[in-house]
Amino acid sequence: RKDGKIMNFSEHIRVIADFPKEGISYKDITTLLKEGGVYRAAVNEMVERIKPWKPDVIVGPEARGFLLGAPVAYALGIGFVPVRKPGKLPSQTISETYALEYGSDTLEVHADAIHSGERIVIVDDLLATGGTMSATANLITKIGAEVAGMGFLIELTFLKGRQKLVDYPIFSLVEYQ
Ligand code: PRP
Repeated sequence: RKDGKIMNFSEHIRVIADFPKEGISYKDITTLLKEGGVYRAAVNEMVERIKPWKPDVIVGPEARGFLLGAPVAYALGIGFVPVRKPGKLPSQTISETYALEYGSDTLEVHADAIHSGERIVIVDDLLATGGTMSATANLITKIGAEVAGMGFLIELTFLKGRQKLVDYPIFSLVEYQ
């Protein structure tokens, strides 16, 4: 925070036209991550917003979710649990398959990493269609844990991901309309 106000993180996100496909305006966070003070400010801002949710554990989806979720967990002094694409986790997993525009995707979490009754906050870099988040939330609720909230660096509001996530408290630091 500068002067008690939230930093303008969008200034540090690079927008690339027509990547990875024509018509898509890609939000590149590598420029933000490379600026130490801005990266730290973004993590700190997420930490302040997540603290009141009193999480026991932070969950983050591969791969960019790790870049924000892990430092948030570290700052809070709580554990970090990765959600991964199939075949990456070595022990027993629980999986959730969700529909994409064309085809489907699957996410996995270690079955013993989350426990019934725990309060979980999910952190990711980006909320787009909400597919990744609703699948991640389903993994957590299947185990009997509670999704106490979800935090994002970026939200693409025009994709209406929040409509899939109406059951959960959500914040994002930067919105693109
Ligand atoms: C991106 C992003 C989110 C997800 C958001 O991950 O990091 O996890 O897409 O999209 P959705 O709301 O439509 O589900 P991606 O699958 O590109 O994986 P990566 O982080 O490993 O590059």
